[in-house]
Amino acid sequence: MNIKIAPSILAGDFSRLGEEVKLLEESGADLIHCDVMDGSFVPPITFGAQTVGAIRPHTSLPLDCHLMVLHPETHIEDFAKAGADNITVHVETCDIPALFRKIAEYHVKKSAVIDPETAVERIFPAVEEGADMLLLMSVHPGWGGQKFIPETLKKIELLRDFCIRCGRTELDIEVDGGVTEENVRDIISAGANVIVAGSAVFRSQNMAETIRRLRG
Ligand code: DX5
Ligand code: ZN
Repeated sequence: MNIKIAPSILAGDFSRLGEEVKLLEESGADLIHCDVMDGSFVPPITFGAQTVGAIRPHTSLPLDCHLMVLHPETHIEDFAKAGADNITVHVETCDIPALFRKIAEYHVKKSAVIDPETAVERIFPAVEEGADMLLLMSVHPGWGGQKFIPETLKKIELLRDFCIRCGRTELDIEVDGGVTEENVRDIISAGANVIVAGSAVFRSQNMAETIRRLRG
């Protein structure tokens, strides 16, 4: 499968996000992962649609918006208008079919995500609801720089098997949190093909080289 690397700007320099996304694009990233946090669903607050709109002119890469917010339905229009290419909503926060209908109204890609303590079966219905991507959190949402939770590997395998059984063999499975050059092979072998990496990319000396290595 086509492996895509989605660096998270959460680990970038917020005073110069425009330059950061340009640099990521030049370094070979496939998507820009935008971690939106509201201080309620997760304790920290990061940024919202206004910031996504501000970085939009600085890259032609798809903006992959991960909404860690309560009531995501109230924000879809703003993110769509800001230029989001994909909006990912947590199954813990909403009714997925209703949110997918709303996201599709704006011709934006729609994805579902589950927390590490949520059973993988809870994301299965999103496959049949026409998800464009499925995200498995491999750390507790809210912070960058945490350690990868190894139980995620089994969830990736079960989810890939389910997608294959549904005839959606090529559906993108994204993994988010604690990904490093050391564990990425296991993550890809388990069946994921979209790799979010915050610290691994931004803490490296050479972004382009790290992105290349993260492709497994
Ligand atoms: C956590 C975020 C992740 C995080 C990944 O809530 O969703 O995207 O920034 O960062 P690293 O790669 O540092 O774990
Ligand atoms: Zn994320």
